[in-house]
Amino acid sequence: MENKKSQWSSHISFIIATVGSAVGLGNIWRFPYIMGKNGGAVFLVTYLLIIAFICIVPLCCELGLGKLYKKDTVSTFKQINPKFEPAGWLCIITVILIPCFYFVVGGWILNYIWIFLTNNLPSNFAQYFSAFSSQTIMPCLLTILFLLLTAYFPYKGVNGGIEKANNIMMPLFFVMLVVLSIFALTLSGAKEGLNFMFHPDFTLFNKNMILTALGQALFTLSIGMGTILTYGSYMKEDTNILKSGYTLIICDTIIALLAGIMIFPIVFSFNVEPSAGATLAFITMPQMFAKLPFSTITGFIFFVLLFFASITSGISMMEAAICTFITNFKFSRKKSALMTSLLIALISIPASLSFGILSDFHIFNKTIFDFLDYLTSNLLLPFNTLFLCIMCGWCIGDFCKKIFKNGFSAMTFNILLKFIIPIVLIFVLISSL
Ligand code: PFF
Repeated sequence: MENKKSQWSSHISFIIATVGSAVGLGNIWRFPYIMGKNGGAVFLVTYLLIIAFICIVPLCCELGLGKLYKKDTVSTFKQINPKFEPAGWLCIITVILIPCFYFVVGGWILNYIWIFLTNNLPSNFAQYFSAFSSQTIMPCLLTILFLLLTAYFPYKGVNGGIEKANNIMMPLFFVMLVVLSIFALTLSGAKEGLNFMFHPDFTLFNKNMILTALGQALFTLSIGMGTILTYGSYMKEDTNILKSGYTLIICDTIIALLAGIMIFPIVFSFNVEPSAGATLAFITMPQMFAKLPFSTITGFIFFVLLFFASITSGISMMEAAICTFITNFKFSRKKSALMTSLLIALISIPASLSFGILSDFHIFNKTIFDFLDYLTSNLLLPFNTLFLCIMCGWCIGDFCKKIFKNGFSAMTFNILLKFIIPIVLIFVLISSL
């Protein structure tokens, strides 16, 4: 099939695309408010330890599987053992369910870009956001528009679409993030904001923080749903897995920190609670932008930045599903892109409506949107990652030796993969339930 032969045109394109997948709403929208809710710097320390010593392992597993088997997620699992095929499909179900709520947020971002671009700003963003998100037609249309914009790139193929999109959007994203961070550092709350981020108060540490940090780390690194495996399958033969894994982790963390540096000084300059929650990006931040000098331009840059971050992640989610449909159903790339888009559209519309006419419809006491978020982030991601680690550690002979050139790395990873990580993940899963 066309897909098997696809390959990134350079190592840097591979790194940019995987960073594009990892860096998304998870870094800019979720990380700062989770950090705000969990005591700031002490959460950061916990998160950094987890990401550097725990998450690197499943991340390298996905990259390694991609490099070794050069296939889509389901075919890879099937080749390791035909009995593992359902677990491969579970990853694909996860990667289709995530955009169903993620793209709703993408639709909100498009709306905010428009209101900042046209300088049509409401006086009260809290009222505006709740009125807008509870509408029936507009948020659904914008979710579909975001979906179509995202689907266009995987539809165009690995080099002609995905690689080009990432190579253009990611550098622009980074420049915008640096510009806004520097701007935030000139504000009066800069010192307090940095203090909040970088001065840990260890008395605030608690067990829950480990679980939250792990869930956030898996989500932000796009682990446990086959996206990294899929991108890894397009990598060149001589790519070093460990180096690529750490490069990805370092870039993702730097960007999450820059997002904090951009957000917390603004938050402290206006005496807002740093733990303002998910509404931080859509109510608190725009409200504050409106009070700052150059309000329309800073707000516009902020939402374009969120747009680039979310679309490059969305592309990777869709590609993991599209690539699987191409191989397993023998569909063309175009037909696969269409089918993936249809599936996402069907579920994302009720997810969008769960802020309005479907707000009383609950699944396990949660709205459709919250249920999708909870199901994927708290249950499916840790479960898929656990399966991935057990499969690589116990069912593929000498997996670590095959993917690492260095004997010491292979030995350390083998121990982590076989024993430590599965225990941690089982603990996380049980706590989530
Ligand atoms: N890593 C992305 C973020 O931090 O926003 C989210 C994500 C991307 C989840 C790709 C799943 C995925 F397949």
